Amino acid sequence: MNNKLLAIAQFIDKQDKVLDMACDHAYLAIYLKKNHLCTNVYASDISESALNNARNNIKKAQVVIKTYLSDGFENITDADINTVIISGVGTKTIESILTTIPPNITKFIISSNNHLPQLRTLMQEKGFYNIEEKTICEHDKYYSIIKFTKTNKKDSPFILKYGKTTNLDYYNYLITKNKSLLKTIPITKIKTRFKLKKELKDIKKILKERK
Ligand SMILES: C[S@@+](CC[C@H](N)C(=O)[O-])C[C@H]1O[C@@H](n2cnc3c(N)ncnc32)[C@H](O)[C@@H]1O
Repeated sequence: MNNKLLAIAQFIDKQDKVLDMACDHAYLAIYLKKNHLCTNVYASDISESALNNARNNIKKAQVVIKTYLSDGFENITDADINTVIISGVGTKTIESILTTIPPNITKFIISSNNHLPQLRTLMQEKGFYNIEEKTICEHDKYYSIIKFTKTNKKDSPFILKYGKTTNLDYYNYLITKNKSLLKTIPITKIKTRFKLKKELKDIKKILKERK
């Protein structure tokens, strides 16, 4: 289990009936099952070889987890689920997976490889609200993990674009390593939301560059 998968697991509640979609090795599904962190656990993947790997790991872990060879929800016909984890795929793939969402799904936990503003907007259009978001760093790479729940609440364009993480290191990273991403955020908003004030000296630099 890496930090990203552990962070995803923290968004799972005891009453959740979970499908770990695009499970690959199924480490997350195994962890949830072994630690009794939710009510049901299933695992699925589009790739036969990934699923064979998952089945071997499940067997080795001595747990019982039903697996599905499935493109998105296509073959998930008899699983009792209300929560879906999708992690480690891109937003384009997620968009195609979510063309139709089974009505019983009330919660998604998604960690997309890319295009987070598009992902947040897509989920809002599908009637899922970004209730919580965290960003973790692993091997110098940042991963955002977003918990969406089914409700018609809407987020501001600012949140859709920049998310809800409160990880200051991530914003520091955006400013220092990937400045273009932050250039359009009103600095006053960052300051109030994250109480950065003097903490990020680079803000001054960006302000100067913007003039
Ligand atoms: C990088 S692995 C992610 C593994 C794990 N979820 C994680 O975050 O560590 C991506 C997996 O997504 C699967 N995948 C890609 N498109 C999919 C789809 N449409 N439906 C289900 N699984 C898919 C791939 O076969 C692969 O095993």
